[in-house]
Amino acid sequence: MRTEIAQRPPDAEAPERASTLPALVLDSLEMGAVALDRERKVVYANRRIEELLGVEPGALLSLPGNRVFPGADARWLKGAARESRDFHIETGERDLTLRGESVPMRDEDGEFAGSVVIAEAISETEDGEFQKKIDRLVSLGELSAYVAHEIRNPLTGIRTTVQFVASKLKPRDPRREDLDDVIQELDRIEQIITGLLMFARPPQARSQACDLHQVVERTLDLLDLQLRDSKVNVHRELADELPLVIADPDLLQQVLLNLCLNAIQAMPEGGDLTLTTGVRRYRTRRSLVDVSIADTGVGIPKELMEKIFDPFFTTRSMGTGLGLPISVQIVRDAGGVITARNNPGGGATMRVSLPVPAEPPGKPEE
Ligand SMILES: Nc1ncnc2c1ncn2[C@@H]1O[C@H](COP(=O)(O)OP(=O)(O)OP(=O)(O)O)[C@@H](O)[C@H]1O
Ligand SMILES: [Mg+2]
Repeated sequence: MRTEIAQRPPDAEAPERASTLPALVLDSLEMGAVALDRERKVVYANRRIEELLGVEPGALLSLPGNRVFPGADARWLKGAARESRDFHIETGERDLTLRGESVPMRDEDGEFAGSVVIAEAISETEDGEFQKKIDRLVSLGELSAYVAHEIRNPLTGIRTTVQFVASKLKPRDPRREDLDDVIQELDRIEQIITGLLMFARPPQARSQACDLHQVVERTLDLLDLQLRDSKVNVHRELADELPLVIADPDLLQQVLLNLCLNAIQAMPEGGDLTLTTGVRRYRTRRSLVDVSIADTGVGIPKELMEKIFDPFFTTRSMGTGLGLPISVQIVRDAGGVITARNNPGGGATMRVSLPVPAEPPGKPEE
C-alpha cells in the first residue's frame, strides 16, 4: 500500500519542532511513536516515524490511524489487540515494513484516552542479520582467497605452456582453435579468481574527501564505448550541490562501474540509464548522500531480491556473481549501504547511500 501523505523533498530542511523535554525524549527514540486520540486520529508523531515514512514534519497529524498503518483495524489501533503487526508501506523511495505494537493510553481517572503505537522498521533490524551473513561469508571468503591464491600460480603456468604449444603449430592447424578455447576458459577462471580475491581481501581503502559527481563522471567516461555499443542513453539528474563523502574514490568508482554494468547488462535491447544524486538531511542522525543508478531493463524478480547480493549468485551465463557482493563490501566499509528496488514502470534502481561526515572535510586534492 502506498502512503498518500505529503513526501518531503529529499533536500528540504525540516522546520523547527517543539523542544520541550518530553518532545526531545520522544524525538531521540530510535523507534517511531504515534499517539492516537479516542477517534483513532493522529495527535502526535515523533521524528523517527516521520523519517521512516519520509514525510514532512507534522504531515501525519489528524490523519486516521489506518492511513499511517494501512489495514490496521480499530481494535488493534485502540491498543486492545496487544499483539505486534507488520505493515508493508511503499514510501516515495522504498518499500518499508513497519512492525508496530499498540498500547492504550489512560487518563488520570483510568478512562481510555487514546493509544500509542510504537513502530520500527524491520527491514532495518534485519540489516543486523545481513551483517552476520556478510561476516560469515567473509570468513568463507578468506578460505576461498587462500585456495584462489594457490590456484593462480599453476594456472599461469598452464596458460604459458598452452600458449607456447599453440605457437609451435602451423597457422592453419585446426588444433590452434582448440587451444584458443582452452586459453579463453583459463582466462575465465582467472577472472573468477580475481573477483574472488577482491571479495575476500578487498584492497585497503585509501579514504579521502571525495566528490561523488567526479566519480560519476569518471565512471561514465570509462563506459562510454560500451554505452554506445549497447544503445543505452545516459541521463544525469545531479544535485546542484553535493556534500563530500569520506571514501576511496577508486573503490567507489569500482562500485558505480559494477552497478552500471549490471544495469547495461539488464538492457540487452538498449534503454535508459539514469544517474541521480541527492542528499537526505536528518536532524537526529547523519545525513546521507545518495547515488542512484536506474535502468529500464528486465528488473529483478521479487524472489531473487534477497539473493542478488549473495556471492556467486548470478543469472548471467558469463557472470561470476561477485560484482554486487564486492560493491556492498566497499560501500559498507565506507559506512554506507546499497539498496535495490524495482521501478514501477519496469527496470531496477540500485542506490548507494553514504553518510555525510559530521565535520565538512576539505576539498579533495586534484
Ligand atoms: N540492474 C539490474 N537489473 C536486473 N538484475 C540485476 C541488476 N543488477 C543485478 N542484477 C541481478 O543480480 C545478479 C548478481 O549481480 P552481480 O553483479 O553480483 O553478478 P553478475 O553481474 O551476474 O556477475 P559479475 O558482476 O561478477 O560479472 C545478476 O546476475 C542479475 O541477475
Ligand atoms: Mg555484475
